[in-house]
Amino acid sequence: MCGIVAYIGSQKAYPIILKGLKRLEYRGYDSAGIALYDDAVQCFKRKGRVAELAAWDEKIIEKATVGIGHTRWATHGEPSDANAHPHTSNNGQLTLVHNGIIENYASLKQELVQKGYVFKSETDTEVLVNFIEDIQKNNDYTLEEAMRVALKRVVGAYVIIVMEKGFPERLIAARKGSPLVIGVGDGEHFLASDASPIIEYTKKVIYVNDYELAILFKDEIILKNLGNEAITPYVQQLDMELAQIEKGGFDHFMLKEIFDQPASLTDCLRGRLDSENQILTLAGIDQHISIFTEAKRIIIVACGTSWHAGLIAEYMIEALGRIPVEVEYASEFRYRNPVIHPGDVIIAISQSGETADTLVALERAKEQGAFIFGVVNAVGSSIARLSHAGAYTHAGPEIGVASTKAFTAQLMVLAMMAIKIGKEKKTLSASEYQRYLVELALIPAKVKTVIASHESIKKVAIHYASARDFLFLGRGYNFPVALEGALKLKEISYIHAEGYPAAEMKHGPIALVDEHLPVLFVATKDAYYEKIVSNIQEIKARKGKVIAIVSADDTLIRSMADHVMEVPEVDELLAPLVSVIPTQLLSYYIGVALGLDVDKPRNLAKSVTVE
Ligand code: F6R
Repeated sequence: MCGIVAYIGSQKAYPIILKGLKRLEYRGYDSAGIALYDDAVQCFKRKGRVAELAAWDEKIIEKATVGIGHTRWATHGEPSDANAHPHTSNNGQLTLVHNGIIENYASLKQELVQKGYVFKSETDTEVLVNFIEDIQKNNDYTLEEAMRVALKRVVGAYVIIVMEKGFPERLIAARKGSPLVIGVGDGEHFLASDASPIIEYTKKVIYVNDYELAILFKDEIILKNLGNEAITPYVQQLDMELAQIEKGGFDHFMLKEIFDQPASLTDCLRGRLDSENQILTLAGIDQHISIFTEAKRIIIVACGTSWHAGLIAEYMIEALGRIPVEVEYASEFRYRNPVIHPGDVIIAISQSGETADTLVALERAKEQGAFIFGVVNAVGSSIARLSHAGAYTHAGPEIGVASTKAFTAQLMVLAMMAIKIGKEKKTLSASEYQRYLVELALIPAKVKTVIASHESIKKVAIHYASARDFLFLGRGYNFPVALEGALKLKEISYIHAEGYPAAEMKHGPIALVDEHLPVLFVATKDAYYEKIVSNIQEIKARKGKVIAIVSADDTLIRSMADHVMEVPEVDELLAPLVSVIPTQLLSYYIGVALGLDVDKPRNLAKSVTVE
């Protein structure tokens, strides 16, 4: 949550920061602001989107070659001009942007108020900048010394970048819990919450670690820990292209990312699956195979859409690997003192690799001796680095706030894991193993077939765009798909939607059914087919409107449903990879029909780096 960008070099800082903030807007879009260091520090900030900042005074923009910027997802204080970052300290010496939450801000604020400090905003960030100022002033410290002392007293998560009056040639940044990347240029340096604002200028990056301070000049980077010991920066090469983070002719990132899925799934399989020669290579699993085959239990920890992928993985791993699996909301797991035994395997699923709840849950589990395996999309992210081993999903950057291609890539990796574990444990026969590899190879083409039917899904979407509520039902592997479909619709269209196991519907939700309620069944051909046919009849008997996602050769459900969306036939274990696609398109087209900002739904942010 919240995106930050900074530049120090010889180019005009403003356009670089503005463009960078636009790329990071998916992290929050309640307000935005930029501070530039010209002859003095000039700050411009507003409630609303980054585009509002384009109206800034030309003369300031012309000269400054140093600056910091911020796009906000509100935590402390409503979206407003006053609460927008950057924030400046009372004596005007320090200007700061912040991503994260200072949990003990109230007590720090009280201390400062007693000393006469005045606050213009409700933010924890303004407390932090004044807290640093206070320590600096009272002890005659340099900014660096004051930050080290201040940050040792701060509880919570942060990335901050600070500009100091009188030091136009230097920026100081610090990190704990929120992400920070340094772009290493030639005579210029960049700082950002992720690499997307940097990629256009350099592919050389340094990921800053927790409790590190980065002191940036245009020609030099100094990394230190909070104990003032120097750290040798580890410069990495980014594996990302600019085209991956642009819309490429689509109206929205969400649509582009839905359409990307045949390619992103192919990327996910690349170098791993050789179905002709019956080879499946998953280095992270291969290198630790005995940990998986001997595991007494696997716990999957995730949030949101990634948690839905975890539910499907539970079914897959239990079916093929015969290992008991529990799926946990990271936010609950981290606080409820769970029983973890050394030797337990924790699988963390995360697109961003930065979700605060997931990250802390893993830290707790790691302390207790669990083996952590990350299924992560963002390369080099905090969760990827915290894990003992892992498998990247290789979906490429996902910019639309609602997760689409990252979800299917997660499913693909999790399916490969289940197949591998099953083979090694011999709980999956050689012939079944071979059959699954063939099925895996066919998935990208099947997903493409579903996407090709987007015009007919659009018609269904337009038909139901004015619905007030939706029910999504599924059984078996398609039950989590129903949950995911409902989540996507809520996020994108603000229509109330609930996902349920189809049989569970009779224990309550059926009371909602009348002629106004659309009920979407994820009803591809599988072991539960006949059962779901009965559930559809139960809805029809109560005049509910039935939309069904069906297999291509289905005739029975087709004859019962008001609308159908067709997908190719797929083995039931892999069915979610194709049956989820119509739900993504349905949500997208309903959101567009309602005139909503599908890439940036209200109140949301893509990377939830606060708990
Ligand atoms: C929904 C969505 C969220 C994320 C959740 C976890 O479309 O994107 O529910 O899935 O915030 O995020 P990651 O996967 O980055 O840990």
